[in-house]
Amino acid sequence: MAKKLSLPLSMKIATIAIFASGNGSNAAKIIEYFNGSAEVEIAAVFTNKTTAGVVKVAENYHIPVVFFSKEQFYAPGSIQDLLKKMRITHIVLAGFLWLIPKDLINLYDQKMINIHPALLPKFGGRGMYGRYVHEAVKNSGEKETGITIHLVNENYDEGKFLVQKKVILSGNETVDEIAAKVQELEHKYFPSSIKDWLKKPY
Ligand code: GRF
Repeated sequence: MAKKLSLPLSMKIATIAIFASGNGSNAAKIIEYFNGSAEVEIAAVFTNKTTAGVVKVAENYHIPVVFFSKEQFYAPGSIQDLLKKMRITHIVLAGFLWLIPKDLINLYDQKMINIHPALLPKFGGRGMYGRYVHEAVKNSGEKETGITIHLVNENYDEGKFLVQKKVILSGNETVDEIAAKVQELEHKYFPSSIKDWLKKPY
């Protein structure tokens, strides 16, 4: 009698949507990291900004881009329905500035993460993004800064911390130099942290 082989129907563990509205350097690293993966698919980039660098990044990698307005984002159901239709299992925020509405948080409970360019809980919250963060770090004379990768809840930068990585500051760095050091950490650790989170939810 022929031997029966039972093969897994799919090796896929996640179908990810990246939400971003900036340059997209993190999105690029994430897309490259999972390129060709049988387990993790980066299925789409969602953005509210047609002129954002991340749009070009997505196009370069032939990743579909979904544009939406503020009204669409906050209208109950509309983004959620699309995400469900696209069978998105996880959301990665990589430079997305709007507060996530409660129904989207509930739909992706524990399945949505963000990266913040500082050591939370310091230098987080509304208005603390991009250069503002690094300026605040410099002005307060911090001896270190870094990144925080965290689950997303209904408040800015407050979900459970998953990963923090630090870099020492001498105090002589310019704001641009601080930003560059932090970006290096982001690019180095964000993609693999996403993989760890998908494999072994914290
Ligand atoms: C990163 O610094 C990230 O920490 C923050 O937004 C920035 C996005 O940069 N949430 P990029 O668009 O990925 O270059």
